[in-house]
Formats: sequence, C-alpha cells, structure tokens
Amino acid sequence: MCRAADTFETAKAAADAVRVTYSKNKPNVESDLKADDDPAVIETTYGPEHRLQSERGDAEAAFASAPVKLDQTYVTPSETHNPIELQGATAIWDASKLTLYEESQAIFNMRSVLAQMFGLPKENVRVITKFVGSGFGSKLWPWTHCPLAAAAARQLGKPVKLVLSRKMTFQTAGHRARTQQRVRLGATPEGKLVSLLHDYVYERSMLDNYHENCGEATSYHYSVPNLRVKFGRAKRNIGTPSDMRGPGAVPGLYATESAMNELADQLKIDPVRLRVLNEPKIDEGLGIPFSSRHYLECLELGAEKFGWSKRTPEVGSMKRDGLTLGWGMAGASWIAARFAAEANFELRDDGTARVACGTQDIGTGTYTILAQLASLKAGVPLDKVEVALGDTSLPEGPVSGGSMATGSVVPAVFDAADNAIASLLTIATTTPGSPFEKQKPDDLAFETGRIFVKAGAPAGGIPFADLLRRANLRLVTGSGKSEATFGEKKPKFSTHSFGCHFVEVTWQPEIARLRVNRVVTVIDAGRIINPLAGRNQIEGAVVMGIGMALLEHTSYDPQNGAPINSNLADYIVAVNADVPSIDVHFLDYPDKVINQLGARGIGEIGLAGFAAAITAAVHHATGVRVRELPVKIEDLLTSSILS
Ligand code: MOS
Repeated sequence: MCRAADTFETAKAAADAVRVTYSKNKPNVESDLKADDDPAVIETTYGPEHRLQSERGDAEAAFASAPVKLDQTYVTPSETHNPIELQGATAIWDASKLTLYEESQAIFNMRSVLAQMFGLPKENVRVITKFVGSGFGSKLWPWTHCPLAAAAARQLGKPVKLVLSRKMTFQTAGHRARTQQRVRLGATPEGKLVSLLHDYVYERSMLDNYHENCGEATSYHYSVPNLRVKFGRAKRNIGTPSDMRGPGAVPGLYATESAMNELADQLKIDPVRLRVLNEPKIDEGLGIPFSSRHYLECLELGAEKFGWSKRTPEVGSMKRDGLTLGWGMAGASWIAARFAAEANFELRDDGTARVACGTQDIGTGTYTILAQLASLKAGVPLDKVEVALGDTSLPEGPVSGGSMATGSVVPAVFDAADNAIASLLTIATTTPGSPFEKQKPDDLAFETGRIFVKAGAPAGGIPFADLLRRANLRLVTGSGKSEATFGEKKPKFSTHSFGCHFVEVTWQPEIARLRVNRVVTVIDAGRIINPLAGRNQIEGAVVMGIGMALLEHTSYDPQNGAPINSNLADYIVAVNADVPSIDVHFLDYPDKVINQLGARGIGEIGLAGFAAAITAAVHHATGVRVRELPVKIEDLLTSSILS
C-alpha cells in the first residue's frame, strides 16, 4: 500500500529514509551502436515497421560498380530537450472526476491515457494546458509524473502539484536517440547519383520501442535509381528516447546531407550544383508526385542571398579581417500532413467572434494563427476575436507536434465558420423585420462581417451583430471538422516542406575559436500565415541547430548509467552569444493539397540539415571533417590551417 506524504518536508524525510538493496549489474551505455538481433518487422510506438524501410533497384551492386564512391559513418549523440519551463502537473479530484493542469503538447492523448490508467470514462478526465513554455517534443506524451500527481492527489484528497527537477527531466521525459548512420553514395564522375545506401542504428531503452526514423527523407530527397534504407536498434540502460524537434529526419538529414557535401568535394563539384543535378521529378520512394516542391528555387535564392558564387572551394582559402572563413550549405526537408481536428466557431451579437479548438499553443503562435483565421472568416478585426484552446472540454484538436497543428486546424476552423455563417444566413431569411426576410439563404452572402444580397455588395447589407440583435440571439454557432491525412495508406501526393541553409563560420586557429557568423535559410513550407511568427520558428530552429552542431550532447556515466551532465551548466545549449544574424526567407507557394490556404506548417524544418551545413563550413575553414556531433574544439586542434 502506497502512502503520500502531506507536506514536502515529510515526503523528503521519507524518501531519505528509504533503504534500497538490489543486485548490481554493469549498465550498458556503450556508445558504439551495433544493431541488436531484431526481426525484419518490429513493433514500435508508431506501429509495425519494416527494418528494410525503402528499396529500389539494386543498391549494393550499383554501389560496387559506381565510378565514384563515398562510404562514411555519421554519429549524432543523445540530446535532451531543455525547455526552460520544466515538466509539471497539477492534479485535482472532484469525487470521481480528475482535472489535470499540465504543459502538454497533446491534451486529448493525455486525457485518454489518464482515463485508461485510472479506469475512468474519458468524460471524467479534463486536461487543461493554456500555455506551454516550450516542449520540443518532450511534452508530447504523458510521462510518469502525470499519473503520480493524480494518484497522490486522489489519496490525499487534495490538489497535488508535481514539478520535475531539471535532473529528472534528463531521465524520465525522453530525449533524442543517439544514432550511428552509414551512408554509401555511388556516382558518375559528372555527379549523377547511381546508388544510395543508408543503414542506421539508434539506441533505445530496455523497455520501450520508440522508433527514430532517420530514413524518412532519404527515399525521396534526391533522384537515384538504386536505393536501400535499412535500420537496426541497440538496447541500452537509459531512459527511453522520444520525439525531439524534427525526430528522425533531423539526424537522418545530417548524415545524408553531410555525405552529399563530401561527395561534392570528392567530385570537385559545387555542392549546390550536385543537388541540382540530382533533383527528382517525383517522389521516387513512393512513385507519386510531390504536392508542391520548390527545392531548386530554395537553393537558388539561398545561394544568391548568401553570395555563394564568391566561394573559393579550397580549404582555408577565404579570409576576412584576419579570420579564416568557412562556408557550407545543406538541404532540408520535413513531412507535411494533417491530423484530425474539430473546431467550434461563434459569431456574437456584440460584433465579436470566438473560435475554439482543443489544440495547444506551445509558443509557436497557435493563438495568433487561430485569431487570424477567425478574423479572416468573420470579417472582424483581430481584437474582436476570442480564441479558446488548451482544454479537453473543447472540440478535439490536434497534437502540437510534427509541425502539423497549423495545417490541421485550418480546414476544421473554416468548416466551423462556414457552418456558423450558413446558420446566420438562414436566420437572416427567417427573422421577422430582417431586411432579408423574403430572400432565400442561397441568395445571400457574407463578407467583411456583413450579410448582403449576393447580387449586391457588402456595403448594402448589415453587420451580423445587428441581425443577431434583431433576432434576439446572443450568438450563432457552427461546428467543423477535418480528417487526418497523416498515415494515409495510399496517398496521391508526397507532401513535404523543403529548404536549405547557407552558413558562414569564422575560425581563429591561434586560439581554436570557431564561431557561426552568418546564416541564410530559405524555406518552402507552403503559404505562410504569419510571417513574423513563422520567421521566429525558423530562427529558433536554427539556434537549436547551432546547439546540435557545436554544443549539445547528453553523456551517460558508465558506472551507473545516469546522465552525467544533467543540468543547464553542463548540458550546453546555444544562447544569444552563440547566435549571429539569421536571414530567413520563405518562398510562400500555397500547397492546396494540405488545406484551403495552402499552409503546410513550420517549426521543425529549420533544424533539418542545419548541422550538415555547419560541419561542411567547419571543413572548409579548418580542413577537419567531423562526422560525430557535436563538433568539439579538440576535434579542430588537428587543423593544419594556420593563420
Ligand atoms: Mo515535435 S518533436 O513533433 O514536438
């Protein structure tokens, strides 16, 4: 029988009094990853996965006979999400009803899990998340503290708040899996790819089966007739890995884009040109067209904004103000799709509108985006829109993950608004004294907040608030929903966002100082609904990319298996002083396959490929090829490039 203490001091004293005896085994936190003996199809948190992920042609044979070959292994470390706001839950019971306040990226999933664990009907569990102080994926799924807070609150009969310490989040709130990825590229001397082999292994915990899908972008990113993508897993005595910003594709593209850069150097071809030479016409992995792909235009614009044509390829050949410059670039891609979403829309008699959707704002601007959508549909200014989200008592909204929240909510909100407007037009034709009493709803239109006769103009109509007051109605409401496209078995289009990064580093060999000096990033993510919030997302991802390339890694203690650097002094993330000016450009081509506005959503793509651009720039400046992240100062001490 468990007992909960009723003060923090009692709990601490009790915890200190616990004496545990256990038999000791040496933990396995071995950093070299060899694939365990797993079957060809494995169960994962994303469902069953074939370890042979993608295959076309005969990649082995084509590689063996390729005139030019590259065979390298790239390593990315375990990385731990470090949102400034820690994980925490506040649980409150009212008889058999549980309310949980939690900074969750997925409140409806949290509700389902808690209902299942506590044997409650779903309607007895309410999860509320009004704001999230960042998550990066660490708050996508419920961790142990959530049910513990609920269980303690139930036993004590009073509300319980449980906040993890920073140290705990390193063990029990997920992290990005360490990966070891062998990439083999075969090419003609002219730079046409003939073979691509991507074999990767990632770490997992003893008990979980989270899938780090490093091969997600490999099969479609470039045109190559012979390809094979295969993965394996290696069990370690660590907390389970989980999604971290750009899961799978971010470590994956670091490896494949690094290989492309190395191949370009080997062929003495400009790395931009190598990519142009291998641009596919369709998604060759799935054999279907892209919904909207403007990768070449990203490369062209990025090269132009950066001044790439001035690059001299020889290592250490570029100098400015006594510093050695290194220039590097890489491509980016990220999946685009929709989760299922429901929304509610209200037009009210005071001329305001309300939009409600049980999704979350994780600092990415979801409140603002929903207000923009509502303002667009209701024809009222932004300050007359109320946005409600982050509560499971609202219509079920999507997970704030995969950069898919925006793309998912657009059709649901539009559907809800259209239904509210349809009701409004019916009210207009049925309300005694309405100027439209004798009309049919089909003869009416709604624009800029006014109801008017289709044949006429908005100015000739009346504001919706006037009609509602005349009808003696407080409000008119509409519900809307949209289906998921994520996980579709037979998609007609390959839906992805694209982009590229151009990076300048400065290198001072005398003091072994490497700085990221300049970044140009171009993103093709469909229609950008809010350029300010959008740019901020990409800038944030680039900052995280600087951390990924140069700073971040979680080290495990071989003595006890625990993370050693489990605090913000020792786990180093990029801060303002590490970050130069970041020049972000959007192409802004609407992708109507995703939704009516053509917005694919952004957030993760800015991190994809970025580390490969940095390591290429580091090589250009120093002559050192680093294939295990992060790049450390000691890696560069062997640089032969002296001032
Ligand atoms: Mo992101 S890892 O989908 O929060």
